[in-house]
This record gives sequence, structure tokens and C-alpha cells, in this order.
Amino acid sequence: MTMELNGKRIVVGVTGGIAAYKAAELVRLLIRQGADVQVAMTDGATHFVTSTTFQALSGKPVYVDQWDARMPNAMAHIDLSRRADLILIAPASADFLARIAHGMANDLLATMVLARNCPLLVAPAMNRQMWENPATQRNVACLQGDGVQILGPASGEQACGENGQGRMLEPEEILDRVQTFFVPKLLAGRKVLITAGPTFEAIDPVRGITNLSSGRMGYALARAAQQAGAEVTLVSGPVAFSAPQGVDRINVRSALDMHAAVMVRATDADIFIAVAAVADYRVANAAEHKLKKDHGGVPLIELIENPDILAEVAALKDGPFCVGFAAESHNLEAYAQAKRRKKNIPLIAGNLIQDGFGGDANRLILFDDTGTHPLAPASKEELSRQLIEHIAKLTGAH
Ligand code: PMT
Repeated sequence: MTMELNGKRIVVGVTGGIAAYKAAELVRLLIRQGADVQVAMTDGATHFVTSTTFQALSGKPVYVDQWDARMPNAMAHIDLSRRADLILIAPASADFLARIAHGMANDLLATMVLARNCPLLVAPAMNRQMWENPATQRNVACLQGDGVQILGPASGEQACGENGQGRMLEPEEILDRVQTFFVPKLLAGRKVLITAGPTFEAIDPVRGITNLSSGRMGYALARAAQQAGAEVTLVSGPVAFSAPQGVDRINVRSALDMHAAVMVRATDADIFIAVAAVADYRVANAAEHKLKKDHGGVPLIELIENPDILAEVAALKDGPFCVGFAAESHNLEAYAQAKRRKKNIPLIAGNLIQDGFGGDANRLILFDDTGTHPLAPASKEELSRQLIEHIAKLTGAH
């Protein structure tokens, strides 16, 4: 598994609120992704979760008191923030937001925030009335103006029994935002259109022709492009995943649906990446009612050719930079190169079906005008990051 936060030093600041218990899970997730986590808490936070919990999870002493005798120079606020690549406050209470918006330094965590020379992300958590209060909104706007990134809050049921905006984002969502924060914004301002998954060509209302594409490769690319700063639209065949954070997903079923969804968006895109395993053929006259077994022997299914979405987009005048995929069982280089020429696209990613279809990992070879670029076998997430870097290079985005 790729550890996306390998070597990143993150100070997690926990402030007083019931969501503090979720910060324990967040610390665990950050550490699992390779981050070096140092926890600091406000005194209020210790009323909800003890420092021992965070010490056990992070494997490091937890700091609460500005005058902690463990710091030989009594400079915990400087020492801890200087070692950090990022300070993440989760949960951030209304009181804490108010204090840091005003540059106050009245406890260790607030002083550390004031003394930092690294970016700050905060995940607010509070009662909905406290969140909506103009004073809180003023403080949030002020922090945003100072370059602080505000994560959430989400809407939903609250610990106090009310319902509304003010819930801390779930730990997985905060992890995703932290990972995105560290990804270089190679595709900032670019619009990326991606197809993913299989298509389903109906035979009758309940049967059809499809394939074993899981959608993993296309979804991983959508996430990598979004993390690289692109505005991403994902046209997806039927798959079991939910859309990555911040990605606009359009659901389709057949190749004709996918074709229509892509063609109306293609001229607006800067980059088109066709990862979908599109059926080459569809059933000529799909039955309106379920086919019956006892109606005149084995049915003959007549097939007709589907439009080639990638080739059509590549032929557009002023169309996007086009990237294709080729899944082959053998002769990968020859077949992938032939597809690249036939569809007239600048870049194709070749994979063997035994490597790429279905699973979490893959092996890609990139073919473009500059030559052949084999990428080492890796998770689909890692390969997606490398492919996005390659696309950014070829399109002059960095
Ligand atoms: O979804 P996963 O389980 O993660 O698997 C990923 C994958 C193996 C499906 C993916 O990595 C992959 O290789 N996708 C392309 C599959 C393929 O072989 O496509 P193709 O040879 O039929 O088509 C070549 C290219 O033209 C592809 O970019 C395809 O999206 C595109 N195409 C094909 C036919 C068609 N009618 N329209 C298209 O746009």
C-alpha cells in the first residue's frame, strides 16, 4: 500500500468538543499513511479525551501546558511548530477559532498557531447556532483571509440533539483533505474529463453484455487529477464506488449514454482521459420485454458497432489533449501503439489484462511521441499520480 503522507510532520491540535473523540481515529489514519504526528491539546480537550489516548496512538508525549517542564528551553510553542510541515486543528471549537482569529496566545496550542511558519488547516465542530453566529462567521472569514484552510463543517445530527451545520468532517474526509493539501497542484485551473468502468449493453430489461472493469483505475485517476488541482468530471459506467471528494460524477450505463455524456462536455475540457472499457458492440434490437426461454429456441443476438468515443474526441477541432488506455492479453506494445496511431492520440497507457482488470494494483507502460515509458508495478493510486505528472509535463502544465 502506498503511504501518501510518508515523512510528513503534522501537528494535530485537539480542542474542547465532543468531536475530540474522532480525533483519535484521525491520528490513527494519519499515522497509517506514514505521517509523523505530534499531538497538542487544549485544556478543554482533555475533558473529552485524555492525553494518554493520543500518546498511545502517536507514540509520542502529548503537550497541553505551555509551561511543560519536558521542554528544556520552555519553548514548546516554537519547537513543536518549527518541526511541522502542517498544523491541523481537529476539532476546532468556536472559542479556539475566535482566539486564533484574533492572534491570541493564551495557551500552548494558540501560541503554537501564532508562532507557526507552516500552513494551518482547521476542522470546525460546534453546535449549529454557534456556527451560524455572525461572530463565528466573522472569525472564519478572517482566518480564510489570513490563508487558513477551513475543512467543513458538515451538516447532520449533532451531539446536542439538534440538526444542522457544525459537525466535524469524518476522519476519512479530513485525511483526504490533508493528502490533497500535500499534492503539487500540477493541473491547477485545468478541466479534466475522464471515463471509467465498464458499459452495459442491454439484451432485454434484465440481461446485458458487460465486462470485468471495476472502475478502480479511472476513479484513482479522477482523484489524482482532482488532488493536482484540476476540475474533474467523471463519466462513469456502473461501478460500486462513490465519487472521489470534489469530483463531479455523471452516471451512465451503455456506450451510447457514455458517448452522449462525453461529447457534450468534450470541447470544454482541456484533457480527456478514456479509461473506460467501452463495449465495442451493442445489441441491435434489445427486447422490450424479458426474453422467454420457450419462444422458438436459442435466441440470436445481432450486434452493431458502438461509436468510438476516444477517436471522436481526438478528431474534434480544438478538442482536449487526449489520453487513451489499452488493455491487452499479449503483444502489449504493438497493439497499444497501433491503437494510439489509429485513434490519433498523443498518449496511450498500455496494461495487460492480467495486471489491470479488477484488482488494486496495475503495471502501466506509457507510449507517446517521446518514446516508451514503463512505470514500475504499483497501486492504481500511485500509478495515477505518475500518469498525471506525465500528462502535466506533456501539456506544459508545469
Ligand atoms: O476498471 P479497472 O478494473 O480498474 O480496470 C482498468 C482497465 C484495465 C479497464 C483500464 O486500465 C483500461 O485498460 N481501459 C481500457 C480498456 C480497453 O482495452 O479499451 P479498448 O482497447 O477497447 O479501447 C482503447 C481506448 O479507446 C480506451 O481508452 C477506451 O476507453 C477507448 N474507447 C474504446 C471503445 C469505444 N467505443 N470508445 C472508447 O472511447
